[in-house]
Amino acid sequence: MESLRGLGYSTASALADIVDNSVSAGAGEVRIEFSWDGTNSRISVLDNGHGMNDGELECAMRLGERSPLDERNSSDLGRFGMGLKTASFSQCRRLTVASVREGSTPSCLRWDLDALAARPDDGWILFEGPAPGSDGFLAPLSGMRSGTLVLWENLDRVVTAGHSADDFSGLIDNVERRLSMVFHRLLQGPRPRLILFLNGRPVVPWNPFMSGHPAKPWDSPIARMITASGAVEVECHVLPHRDRLTSGEYEAGGGPEGWTAQQGFYVYRNKRLLLAGGWLGLGQGRAWNREESHRLARIRLDIPNSVDADWKIDIRKSTARPPVSVRPWLTKLAEDTREKARRVFAFRGSPAPRPGGVPVEQAWRAEYSRSGIRYRIDEKHPAVAAVIDGAGPQLPLVRAMLKVIEETVPVQRIWLDTAENKETPRTGFSGETSENVAAVLRVLFEDMTGRRGMSPALAKKKLSVTEPFQNYPELVAALPE
Ligand SMILES: Nc1ncnc2c1ncn2[C@@H]1O[C@H](COP(=O)(O)OP(=O)(O)O)[C@@H](O)[C@H]1O
Ligand SMILES: [Mg+2]
Repeated sequence: MESLRGLGYSTASALADIVDNSVSAGAGEVRIEFSWDGTNSRISVLDNGHGMNDGELECAMRLGERSPLDERNSSDLGRFGMGLKTASFSQCRRLTVASVREGSTPSCLRWDLDALAARPDDGWILFEGPAPGSDGFLAPLSGMRSGTLVLWENLDRVVTAGHSADDFSGLIDNVERRLSMVFHRLLQGPRPRLILFLNGRPVVPWNPFMSGHPAKPWDSPIARMITASGAVEVECHVLPHRDRLTSGEYEAGGGPEGWTAQQGFYVYRNKRLLLAGGWLGLGQGRAWNREESHRLARIRLDIPNSVDADWKIDIRKSTARPPVSVRPWLTKLAEDTREKARRVFAFRGSPAPRPGGVPVEQAWRAEYSRSGIRYRIDEKHPAVAAVIDGAGPQLPLVRAMLKVIEETVPVQRIWLDTAENKETPRTGFSGETSENVAAVLRVLFEDMTGRRGMSPALAKKKLSVTEPFQNYPELVAALPE
């Protein structure tokens, strides 16, 4: 039993496993309490599910009482028959479970690793009732028609040497953030399936997809694939650029781990989140990493519990590996989403021209060759063309200037600044006043309608597809007819 303590649960993931059992037992309300009392601190989870009678509780306390090969009810969040024990022992040395099923008398059983260690010859003793002095901690269950209370005492893996009340409340905050993410699908909606309290406060769901945000550039229709073991469902999302969010929304949108870490797949099993972010080892050739430039991509992936073996769900419910049969399909969907997210990140959320639309006249071109990439100023851009056309004897000087600019594009600087600030530097007049944009626009408009003799309507049409003015259609429209 000591060996089972090292499976690698965090406090939050261990609690999530306990809450899973409550949800599987049909609980609509779960109350988690953290009680600070130095080395006597406790954590308890109380639910109003159907509870267990004597015999059921005894089975529940056993390790692997049910085979992972058993078929499970489609709403069951369990699998290995281990979670209650492994999750609890990862945090504490004494696990007491009290439960009441409607119509039967309450029962209470307890594992106590210290008591077992003190009596090595007595075998695996499952004690009846709470530890002496702990009766009062079970009080919240009395008076309930049905429900279960899980009590963790001797929290040796939580309250370690030097752990203070402040650390304890820090842990509570961390657990709150995690649970608000892990159970968000069950917690959200007008009639949520689950209400979760943490020290009396309701846990507010955190939706990774910013569903319903008006600045969201894209989300895909739902895609489904039927596999031999069950149906898998995917919905791809590109989140709004930072410029389109308030600072509060930006802060919240980053989730518990921050924007870059939270990109990628969100794998849900029966609506319960297993994996938050990451690319599941997918990629073309080499597996994709979580990079800054793809941080706006998040993909919802739903699997049923019938695919557990195929997806290699582990005891902690913290890994999932897509089977070979679905990998190419997922790779394709992810690739498309990543590309869209990269564009939004790089262009600050301005819409890229749609396929079939008029191409935008760009000021810079990237030239790809065997020896690498070069960036060139496009002489067809109206601002450049105007100067070249009107240069006369100055033309060699103008060309020399353009060449010098092209050859000294501060690529390393831009690259470093982007990496360090986690943001592409500002371009396209972003953050400038519209008067500044309008002033430049006006100069070009006058050159086009004057020197080049274009009609105002034609000049406006051209400017509306000229970089960076394609992002300012109102200013283009406001030019004189
Ligand atoms: N809160 C609870 N309410 C009712 N039954 C529970 C609860 N927690 C655990 N059980 C019972 O104990 C069994 C063992 O739980 P667990 O060790 O977490 O394994 P698993 O969830 O994989 O079955 C569950 O299958 C369930 O029958
Ligand atoms: Mg379980």
